[in-house]
Amino acid sequence: MGADKKGEQMEIVTVPSYEDMSLRAAEVVCEAMRQNPDLVLILPTGATPVGMYRELVAAHERGQADFSRVRTFNLDEYRGLAPDHPASYAAYMREHLFAKVNLAGQNTHIPHGVGPDPEVECRRYEAAIVEAGHGDLAILGIGQNGHVGFNEPSYSLRSTVHVARLRDETRQVAFDIWSESGDNPFPALADFPNHALTMGMGTILKAERILLLASGASKARALRLAVTGALTPQLPASFLQLHRDVTLLVDSEAARFL
Ligand code: GLP
Repeated sequence: MGADKKGEQMEIVTVPSYEDMSLRAAEVVCEAMRQNPDLVLILPTGATPVGMYRELVAAHERGQADFSRVRTFNLDEYRGLAPDHPASYAAYMREHLFAKVNLAGQNTHIPHGVGPDPEVECRRYEAAIVEAGHGDLAILGIGQNGHVGFNEPSYSLRSTVHVARLRDETRQVAFDIWSESGDNPFPALADFPNHALTMGMGTILKAERILLLASGASKARALRLAVTGALTPQLPASFLQLHRDVTLLVDSEAARFL
């Protein structure tokens, strides 16, 4: 994917369904690990990549995915949630990937959501990514409002790892997903975190390759603006237009306006 379009424009791969998107995404990751066993992966959370993680676990069980030397850096974590909180991204990653493949514990990285000084943690996390040589492959999702990681629509963007204030619509979407699960650990929306530690757009754009996943009609508008709209901090995903090797892997519902 992407080889013939490098440096031109985003490559768009449209597949019929969420399952196809998940399978193709896992194939991209497996192939990248075969080419480079020391791969540095930047990883997303949310509903979208759950299927990709499931396929990666299945590939690992078939002996087709070796994570033993791979290093991972997650995009973000909620401020105030400890790794054992069920809504933390640390818990998400353990559930969907880390506990199920042969990733070494010291090779997985997620910003610490709790701690006395989040600014110190941001600098530590940015330095760790720089030390790893930046990501070889960044897998991204996209928020309905065009956010990437937790780089929310704003009047300006931050380049490096930082503490971000979450937009109300982003908190509401995540809160609703927890409510629908029937197991919402937050009594009310007011209890949902309102800040997160996130890679900046600069951190993300330094990855060698980017694969953005999107599924469902709720992402169609943001995707169209990201691909064809003006570069604007009001739609952080639009800055992916600056990268020379971006592939959008989307299902047909998400691609309806492309
Ligand atoms: C969260 C994450 C993003 C993710 C987005 C979309 O805000 N911080 O990294 O891309 O949600 O999530 P979903 O895949 O559930 O739509």
